[in-house]
Amino acid sequence: MTKRSGSKALTWMALSSVVFAAPALADESAKLVVNDEIEMITETDAPAHLDGALGTIRSGWTFRTSETQVLQMDDFDNPGMIFVDQALDQWNTVEGSAGKSCASCHDDVESSMAGVRAVYPKWNEEAEEVRTLVMQINDCRENQMGAEPLKYTSGKMTAMEALISVQSRGMPVDVAIDGPAQSTWERGKDIYYTRFGQLDLSCANCHEDNYDNMIRADHLSQGQINGFPVYRLKNTKLNNAHARFKGCIRDTRAETFKPGSDEFVALELYVASRGNGLSVEAPSVRN
Ligand code: HEC
Ligand code: HEC
Repeated sequence: MTKRSGSKALTWMALSSVVFAAPALADESAKLVVNDEIEMITETDAPAHLDGALGTIRSGWTFRTSETQVLQMDDFDNPGMIFVDQALDQWNTVEGSAGKSCASCHDDVESSMAGVRAVYPKWNEEAEEVRTLVMQINDCRENQMGAEPLKYTSGKMTAMEALISVQSRGMPVDVAIDGPAQSTWERGKDIYYTRFGQLDLSCANCHEDNYDNMIRADHLSQGQINGFPVYRLKNTKLNNAHARFKGCIRDTRAETFKPGSDEFVALELYVASRGNGLSVEAPSVRN
């Protein structure tokens, strides 16, 4: 049963199909320091736009068991880092008709990509669109390298997204939601509060009204994406945010939007903005 009286009136359909139970015990005082070096902000005051919805924002890491948490504390233990190493080779590999690699234009990834993840999705002035990191990587592949675009949720793409994200680890997420990005952000917000599927549940019903409760065997988090791409123990690979959104919507037994669709790009911008102030953690480890 829902614990909090404020839970925006779950319909009977939802209540009969999904049982939210009391919270599991997690060590909420645990601190995330990666490689004894990078101190992560895993809990902080919510950004102003969440006034009335959430007071404090928390990384998904704080909801995991200590066995899962520890895997993210050292790169040697983090299974996601193997894919990051593979992407580093990719960074230096020439591909496409222009005979270029990423490194040909961007030199070393450590300096050229520091801080980039923290501000994505981001408005691109020339293209007049909000771009996710994946869209930008494919834009460079197609228009700068003359190479084929990669599938949105492919292993190669997700690894490249992780490599770029690693260069911002520890930096606070800081996506812009005003100016030209505002209408996309508002569309994402609408989707976040829309009820989907037979279960008639919105993202907010689970991740805002019921975080910290148990749903089946899962300890519900706030559904933040500061840790993406995420290595999941469940499928033993890196997963990007759109793959996760798709899975969550499918769990409500709804038809889902496609990875890379305008809807998911808008949703990514909105969900990222709910984590403004949390550290970039990628690649994080989850169950
Ligand atoms: C021929 C040169 C060239 C190559 C090769 C190239 N890029 Fe780019 N890249 C650019 C330019 C120019 C921009 C800025 C374009 C813009 O802002 O629209 C850019 C922007 C980016 C950005 C956004 C940076 C930011 O601050 O917003 C990312 C991420 C990126 N490239 C990744 C890659 C990756 C990954 C590869 C290899 C798969 C690659 N690029 C290959 C020229 C290149
Ligand atoms: C029926 C409840 C439910 C709904 C509705 C739901 N989710 Fe989830 N979501 C979960 C569960 C369970 C997990 C796994 C445990 C966790 O991390 O919260 C999860 C995980 C996530 C994660 C991974 C968080 C992390 O730190 O790894 C993200 C991101 C996410 N959801 C976003 C969304 C979005 C966006 C929507 C709406 C399109 C949505 N979810 C709808 C139940 C739900």
